[in-house]
Amino acid sequence: MIFICTLILVTILSLLLTSSIKKNYYLYYSLATGIAIITSFYEILRITSNAKLEGVILTLEKTSIRGLISVSFFILVMYAGALNQKWTITKKLRSIRAELAIIGAIMLLPHGIVYFIRFIILKLPRIINEGSLPVLYLSYIAVGLIGFIIMIPLFITSFKKIRRKMQGKQWKRLQRWAYLFYFLTYFHILLILLNEKEIDWVRLISYTIVFINYMALKLLKNKEINIAKSFKLSKMNN
Ligand code: HEM
Repeated sequence: MIFICTLILVTILSLLLTSSIKKNYYLYYSLATGIAIITSFYEILRITSNAKLEGVILTLEKTSIRGLISVSFFILVMYAGALNQKWTITKKLRSIRAELAIIGAIMLLPHGIVYFIRFIILKLPRIINEGSLPVLYLSYIAVGLIGFIIMIPLFITSFKKIRRKMQGKQWKRLQRWAYLFYFLTYFHILLILLNEKEIDWVRLISYTIVFINYMALKLLKNKEINIAKSFKLSKMNN
């Protein structure tokens, strides 16, 4: 339920604040960076000195470190490229697509870095000592890591200053890696949910609907574009 609530909240805020995000994007990047730094500090304190938050603040912190805010921003970026371009919602989302991707990536930095360091320092030595082979666990860490590595160049080249220095074709070719990133994100989450003692069907079905629906919309859109292209070509040839 936290995922759905976060997605709804992030969607509402992004649609209400579209023009503000467009104009004052650095303010939003700073806000995302501030949240990322506070989240990282708390996680380090939690691991080293058993510090514990409570109540609503704990829920917000968990939502941040578990990557739920980031994934919600990425879902908006995905749907901006898949929904009907004539819709007002799509136009709004498309106008701040890069900004949403940057905010999502900034907020995912603590997730990737803290969880990976925790894996290397705490989990891996335990796995080696026990001589066990938790295949699903190791797979979701590996898939997450590959996704995280792919995200870095996508994140850097989303900044207008960097994008301007690249050729249009080169930038577009690089951005195609975003599809692999979306796939790995879903695969990472799926493996996490399958690794839990009891499968949380609500979470599994929610993520699956969001990602499969995106894939179907995107395939349909590509098919329409191809039909329009071949129609244009045949008209030119006649
Ligand atoms: C170094 C890379 C990564 C590592 C080590 C990692 C590790 C983890 C771990 C350990 C969890 C379980 C957290 C928990 O149950 O409290 C998790 C959950 C999650 N990860 Fe990652 N992750 C990585 C990259 C990514 C990437 C690139 C994404 C893309 C957005 C992502 C999205 C998520 C989401 C959304 C969840 C929460 C799923 C849920 O509980 O509903 N992760 N990750």
